[in-house]
Amino acid sequence: MTTQSYHSVTKFGKYGGQFIPEVLMPAVEELVAGYEKYKNDPDFLAELAHYNKYFAGRPSPLYHAKRLSKEYGIKIYIKREDLIHGGAHKLNNTLGQALLAKYMGKKKLIAETGAGQHGTAAAIAGANLGMEVTVYMGAKDMQRQRMNVYRMRLMGANVVPVESGSKTLKDATNEALRSWVTNVEDTHYLIGSVVGPHPYPTIVRDFQSIIGTEVKEQIMELEGRYSDSIVACTGGGSNAMGIFHPFVPDTDVKLFAVEAGGSGLGSTDKIAYHSSSLCLGEVGVLHGACTKILQDKYGQILESHSIAAGLDYSGVGPELAYLTETGRIIPGNISDKQALEAFSDLSCLEGIIPALESSHAVAFVKYHADELGDVVVINLSGRGDKDVEAVSMELGMIK
Ligand SMILES: Cc1ncc(COP(=O)(O)O)c(C=O)c1O
Repeated sequence: MTTQSYHSVTKFGKYGGQFIPEVLMPAVEELVAGYEKYKNDPDFLAELAHYNKYFAGRPSPLYHAKRLSKEYGIKIYIKREDLIHGGAHKLNNTLGQALLAKYMGKKKLIAETGAGQHGTAAAIAGANLGMEVTVYMGAKDMQRQRMNVYRMRLMGANVVPVESGSKTLKDATNEALRSWVTNVEDTHYLIGSVVGPHPYPTIVRDFQSIIGTEVKEQIMELEGRYSDSIVACTGGGSNAMGIFHPFVPDTDVKLFAVEAGGSGLGSTDKIAYHSSSLCLGEVGVLHGACTKILQDKYGQILESHSIAAGLDYSGVGPELAYLTETGRIIPGNISDKQALEAFSDLSCLEGIIPALESSHAVAFVKYHADELGDVVVINLSGRGDKDVEAVSMELGMIK
């Protein structure tokens, strides 16, 4: 398979598309035209490269985790997105989109956020580029990610609590889309993952692909070859697509997308105990795209669950759904409990406190080392400072 076969199109096989209300079409079309105009523009690319290097701190290191390798029985490299300014991969996308919006003449940004990492990254980009930022966040997520709410407000962002539905990312995204309809003139909707109507899944993937592009060069220098596999946690799927995309044509490299298995893979008629839409979802439409979704038999969206707020989403990016269907991406599951174990492992063995989201990728290597070959790269999508309070409540205070 080549990347050309599905590059720059509105759909990935049957997934993707633009399932949006008529009133949003002009805004989405304007974004398609804006991205086409600037994505290869030398001034835009040079300015973005400047911000990535001097503001975000790229390239992030690829680190050989020797003690974790010994413990898990496989050679492990960690892509340190936790070291990017703000503490997660999210800034790769927010800097790119905020700069694009500025080139397109927009003055304001709106965003949705789950773990608060995307909202924080949007607040960082907005403050740095002088743009007004409003972030919609589920009330439940605001509670479990208090530190990020405070950080966003410190940087001047207006954080709006969303009280509807499950009070998590799905509801925040609904609210952000609603707000965009009424403010399209001067406002860019800065989506935080490879989800939403075309062109968002493509734009976000392109800005995040800097992760995989760097890994290609770094692993060649360290190993003289690519790794046998790459493992990334998957909520909407932006850190996964970011590290996977440059490797899609390299079919010797196995790509594992690890979803939240939560507290079990079952569900009631309203609630799933997990967030495993790639593994257990069915085809449907959510937030403007056709993709794999957790839904009931009438197409109503099930509430998802994960200990990691950033993975707690009932859908997944359409390109991931497509690449999983073609067999290029292999989906997997990790429970809350296993993720907590890996959170402790990486903290104690390497002195790196991972985000709970990223802990799912680490745990997958622990439990599936025999499926991954000799050398694996883990995308460590973020750092765990934001999760310390929640983890201390789960594990108790450490003496
Ligand atoms: C640190 C971290 N990793 C992963 C994710 C999941 O998002 P995505 O699947 O888009 O990478 C989030 C979402 O907030 C996050 O904060």
